[in-house]
Amino acid sequence: MKQQFTSQAFMQSPETVFAPLREQSAVVRIRLPIIGKVWLTTNAAATSAMLKDNHRFTMRKSAKSNSSEVAGVQWWMPRTIQLLATNMLTQDEPDHRRLRKLVDQAFQRRTILALEERVQAIAEDLVTNIQKDFRSTGESDLVGSFARPFPMAIICELLGIPNAIRDEFAQQAVRMTKMSGILSFLSALLPIRKMRLMLSDVIQDTQSRIQKGESVDGLIGDLVLVEADGDRLNHDELIAMVFLLLIAGHETTTHLISGSVVALLENPAQKQLLIDKPERIDMAVEELLRFVSPVQFSKPRHVRQSGKFHGVELKQGDLIMAGLASANYDPTEFDSPTKLDLTRRPNPHLEFGTGIHFCLGFQLARLELKVALRTLLTAAPQMCIGTDGAQWGQRMGLRVLDRLPIVEK
Ligand code: HEM
Repeated sequence: MKQQFTSQAFMQSPETVFAPLREQSAVVRIRLPIIGKVWLTTNAAATSAMLKDNHRFTMRKSAKSNSSEVAGVQWWMPRTIQLLATNMLTQDEPDHRRLRKLVDQAFQRRTILALEERVQAIAEDLVTNIQKDFRSTGESDLVGSFARPFPMAIICELLGIPNAIRDEFAQQAVRMTKMSGILSFLSALLPIRKMRLMLSDVIQDTQSRIQKGESVDGLIGDLVLVEADGDRLNHDELIAMVFLLLIAGHETTTHLISGSVVALLENPAQKQLLIDKPERIDMAVEELLRFVSPVQFSKPRHVRQSGKFHGVELKQGDLIMAGLASANYDPTEFDSPTKLDLTRRPNPHLEFGTGIHFCLGFQLARLELKVALRTLLTAAPQMCIGTDGAQWGQRMGLRVLDRLPIVEK
C-alpha cells in the first residue's frame, strides 16, 4: 500500500490510483513513508477548501515556531533538516508573510517577463547538446541534456550562484532527490548537508564582496543586505530561503518539462497542433501543468481543530495533504480529464496550489515551459521516444522522470 504512490505504474498513470480513491471519498486516509498516516484530499472542492483554510490547517502544530513543530518534520531528523525547514513554505502567518514579502518582487510577472530573452538564450544553448547527441549516438536523454540543466541554470542566475560551482550543485541536487522512503531519505542527508555548506560559502562570499563595496548580481545579494539591515531576516532564515528557492525553483520545473515532452510525444496530434499554431502556447502550458501534474501532493498541514470536513471526521493533531494531481483530474471540474486537450478552457487546475502558499514561482515556471517547448519543437520537430522508453523514478509526492531517451525520426 505504501509504495502505491512511488511505483513505476503509479508514476506512469497516477489516475489509476487516484480515481478509485476519489470515488471512495473527498478525503481519504492513506499511509506514506516517513510521514505515516495522513489524510489526503481527492477532489477539487476539498483540495481548494483545505489549502485556503489556513486557520484550521496550519504548517505548525502550535504558534511556537521551532522547526520540530513543522508538519512532516520529525524530532529525530538532523539539524540540517530542521534548519532548512525554517522557510516560508513551513511557516504560518505572520512569519510566512514577512518572508514572502522579501522575495515577492523578484518573482512578479513583469520582472519574470523581462527575463524571457535570457531564458531563450539558455534554452538555445542547451538544445545544441541534444543535436550533438543526435549526431554522435542518434539518441539523447532529454532529462540530462535539457530538462534538468535548463531550470537549474536559470534559478542559479537569478540567485547569483557563481558559474564555477553550478555543476557541483546540480550533481548534489540529483543525489538529494532520490528520496522515496526512509533509507533513501537517510542517504539523501549527505548531499543535503553538502549543499547547505556550499550555500553558506556563497552567502559568506557575497557578504564580504558587499563589505568591500563590490557590486553583486542576484537575489542572494539583495537578501544579504536585508539580513544586515535589521530584524526582517535572520541568518538561518537566509540560508533556508536560498535553499528553498534553489530546490523549488528547479526540481519541479525539470519534471514539468520532461513530463510535458512525454505527453506531447504520446499525443502526436496535440504536438502537431502546437507546431502549427504556436500562438496557442499559453493555453497549452496550462493544460500540460494539469495533465502532467508533477507536484502530486502539497506539503502536509496539521489539523488545528477537530470536526467534520467534506464528509470525514478530522481530529486535532491529524495530518492532511492536498491531492493536487487528483484534484486536477476531478471529472466534476474537467470534461474528459484523462484527455490531453491543449485548447482546454477554462482550466482551473490547482497545480500551483492556492491560498497563502500559492506558488511563488508560477510565472517563472510558465515562462520556462513555454520557452522549453518552443525551442525543442523548433530544433527537433520530428523527435520521438527512444526504444528504451520513458523511465519514471520513485519520488514521493513528485512525478519524476529519471531518463527520457529521445531520437529523431
Ligand atoms: C512546475 C513548476 C512548479 C510547480 C508545479 C509548483 C508548485 C507549487 C505548489 C503546489 C506550491 C504550494 C505547496 C503547498 O501549499 O504545500 C508551491 C509553493 C512554492 N513554490 Fe512552486 N512550483 C513550481 C515552480 C516553482 C519555481 C520555478 C519556483 C521558484 C523559485 C517556486 C517556488 C515556490 C515557493 C518559494 C513556494 C512557497 C510559497 C509560500 O509558502 O508562500 N516554485 N509551488
